[in-house]
Amino acid sequence: MLRTHNCGELRLEDIGKEVTLCGWVQRSRDLGGMTFVDLRDRYGLTQLAFNMETNAPLCKQARELGREFVLQVKGRVTERSNKNPKMPTGDIEIIATEIKILNEAQTPPFTIEEETDGGDELRMKYRYLDIRRDMVRKNLELRHKMALETRKFLSEQQFLEVETPVLIKSTPEGARDFLVPSRMHAGQFYALPQSPQTFKQLLMVGGLDRYFQIVKCFRDEDLRADRQPEFTQIDCEMSFVTRDDVLETFEGLARHLFKAVKGIENISFDRMSYADAMKYYGSDKPDTRFGMRFTELNELAKNKGFQVFDKAELVAGICAEGCAAYSRKQLDALTDWVRRPQIGANGLVYVKYNEDGSFKSSVDKFFDQEQLKAWADAMVAKPGDLLLILAGDTAHTRKALGELRLEMGKRLELRDPNTFACLWVTDFPLLEWDEDTQRYYAMHHPFTSPLQDDIDLLATDPGMVRANAYDMVINGVEIGGGSIRIYDRPLQEKMFEVLGFTPEQAQEQFGFLLNAFRYGAPPHGGVAFGFDRWCALFGGSESIRDYIAFPKNNAGRDVMIDTPSVIDTEQLKELHLKLDKQAKSE
Ligand code: AMO
Repeated sequence: MLRTHNCGELRLEDIGKEVTLCGWVQRSRDLGGMTFVDLRDRYGLTQLAFNMETNAPLCKQARELGREFVLQVKGRVTERSNKNPKMPTGDIEIIATEIKILNEAQTPPFTIEEETDGGDELRMKYRYLDIRRDMVRKNLELRHKMALETRKFLSEQQFLEVETPVLIKSTPEGARDFLVPSRMHAGQFYALPQSPQTFKQLLMVGGLDRYFQIVKCFRDEDLRADRQPEFTQIDCEMSFVTRDDVLETFEGLARHLFKAVKGIENISFDRMSYADAMKYYGSDKPDTRFGMRFTELNELAKNKGFQVFDKAELVAGICAEGCAAYSRKQLDALTDWVRRPQIGANGLVYVKYNEDGSFKSSVDKFFDQEQLKAWADAMVAKPGDLLLILAGDTAHTRKALGELRLEMGKRLELRDPNTFACLWVTDFPLLEWDEDTQRYYAMHHPFTSPLQDDIDLLATDPGMVRANAYDMVINGVEIGGGSIRIYDRPLQEKMFEVLGFTPEQAQEQFGFLLNAFRYGAPPHGGVAFGFDRWCALFGGSESIRDYIAFPKNNAGRDVMIDTPSVIDTEQLKELHLKLDKQAKSE
């Protein structure tokens, strides 16, 4: 080893030891008689001291050191006269006797400190420097711990980690695939997996009983803070289980991770049907850290002469506690907020429940005090509260009110990142109708089993069929999703038929799975968790990029290695590809 200790471990009890440290120059301070250098490595910072009086040549050498130079330093541990209680090594310093410059460094393009002056793009371009920052390193440490504890827990529960292939077959369902042209098979392509879904089902047919994998998945879809084109799943599957067995097993995993990584015990899971989640929260991933559930007001508010409500399919509202004192200006700003295209409401009706028990609303012309009181009672409001009401068609109104609820939750500081509210949302619709292509799509994927009670509806009213599918939601984030699978061939064939596949198309796309179902497939089900999302949730950040060592930017580019990039004509030819136009590198 080039060092005897790391930069984070020396304490008062080490005083007098001769040590050798290696690391990067964080900063140096020249105080005339003394020069101090903070040396940094993954484990922390240690102060090096150089004395002009006792060792002038070395002190002069120390003054010449630039930021981020890589050093090997020998010296003796001594007690500091000027202790720094903020640093774990703040009681000691090293009186240096020898410096070896292992490597020089150019001045970095941004400061490698907690509060850096580097913007997002710059830090991504020099991600290896960004990783030297405490914050990024801690995030990667958290990710490592999460992976380790996941493996520990699942292995103890008899799950086997099995790798599935990365070069697979493109399928038309789900998001867009990333494709890889084959050199050996002209005009043919592999696809990168959007998830190992069909393989894990085949492992169940293979009798492995319990499978998991911490695995890269690839989806060519629009990016957001919680979406990357390549991301990681904790992918799991189990045989001979019911839905409740799956939910309980993975509540166990969640509890283990909360305890081992966050030190939090007594995590409990609620369960809520998709229908209730939409009705009361306007979202299939409700943030249940706070209440503010929707109250539907159709009975009380329609047919009283107020056109907007009379024409609406749904009138619904939320009660913002203690907000009756909102000023005109604040209410106008809130109205503008719900009218933004991202939210899409036409307007906002408010009712202030004044402290004296009277009501002041934006619809006083149409509703008297008694009627407003009836709304307030339905919403279990009290004096001092503010009712916020939206109206329109059901789907849009719920969505917009759901956004407003989250916004009010944020403004009222009800979304504490250190509180965790966990639930399973169950009984999703099996299918979604798409107007553009005039066909049904599987809401989860085509291998999801319908609820037993709804199977007959597949033939008569497919849109009403509920799936035996579930999502794990924590603090309004979809952490994972899964389902009990179809395991018999006729039902799987029926499902492909409902999705508009001819038997030939089904055979061509998914023949391998349908054939496997001829050979004794066990009942099975599973789930996959967004590993990056789980890390971000535990780390208290909304962006999963902070937890990925080398992420893509919002345009799907890796700005550090500069990809996607143009390939040369020879390579294209070898792959039997012809481009209409040769693109230029960005
Ligand atoms: P699903 O498509 O719901 O299910 O994905 C499972 C979980 O993966 C995470 N996730 C993502 N994370 C980051 N970036 C993305 N682009 C991204 N897309 C999805 C989410 C999501 O809940 N095979 C099924 C699972 C199963 O049925 O067992 C599947 O992939 O947290």
